[in-house]
Amino acid sequence: MQIRKALVRDAVGIYSLVNIYAKDGILLPRSLNSIYENLRDFWVCYEGDELVGCCALHVVWEDLAEIKSLAVKHGYRGRGIGKALVEACIREAKELGISRVFVLTYAVGFFTRFSFEEVSKDKLPHKVWGECINCVKFPSCDETALLLDLSRVSVGDECKV
Ligand SMILES: CC(C)(COP(=O)(O)OP(=O)(O)OC[C@H]1O[C@@H](n2cnc3c(N)ncnc32)[C@H](O)[C@@H]1OP(=O)(O)O)[C@@H](O)C(=O)NCCC(=O)NCCS
Repeated sequence: MQIRKALVRDAVGIYSLVNIYAKDGILLPRSLNSIYENLRDFWVCYEGDELVGCCALHVVWEDLAEIKSLAVKHGYRGRGIGKALVEACIREAKELGISRVFVLTYAVGFFTRFSFEEVSKDKLPHKVWGECINCVKFPSCDETALLLDLSRVSVGDECKV
């Protein structure tokens, strides 16, 4: 398993993987255009030649970033790939000097393992909701908002506080 920052040649693979889950309403759909424009947000995981996971860290404001488009290919789940991708994003957020990372998700139990804690959605800034207009569930969002305070996490030790 190799985890690295995405390259332009990964964009189509990211697009396919994210939209498999978007069809089931688990992730927000992403256009290929939005993946190219935000390519530098993405981490990818490869097994050999195959892209099997992706995750994006999107900076929202001086103290806040969002984890988005986390997906591990069916058949590769449960092998630590999702964990490694989230850890890469947390490490990157710390290196950037971000103090808090949030996620909107149905996979609550997965994120609470990293010490994310549930917060009320109205605690998140308005600009976060800009792309929700693209979601089939808009305006009745049933995802849970979770926030991680990075001051409680040390690099290389992301799962422990
Ligand atoms: C959620 C997802 C990214 C997890 O990826 P994964 O590679 O299967 O997860 P990992 O193997 O890294 O799991 C790490 C740990 O979390 C646990 N875990 C995985 N998914 C979980 C979930 N949905 N709820 C609770 N715990 C979960 C695993 O059992 C594992 O525990 P362990 O360390 O005790 O063995 C993957 O299931 C997926 O792509 N789901 C569909 C898309 C999605 O829901 N994305 C998240 C939206 S933000």
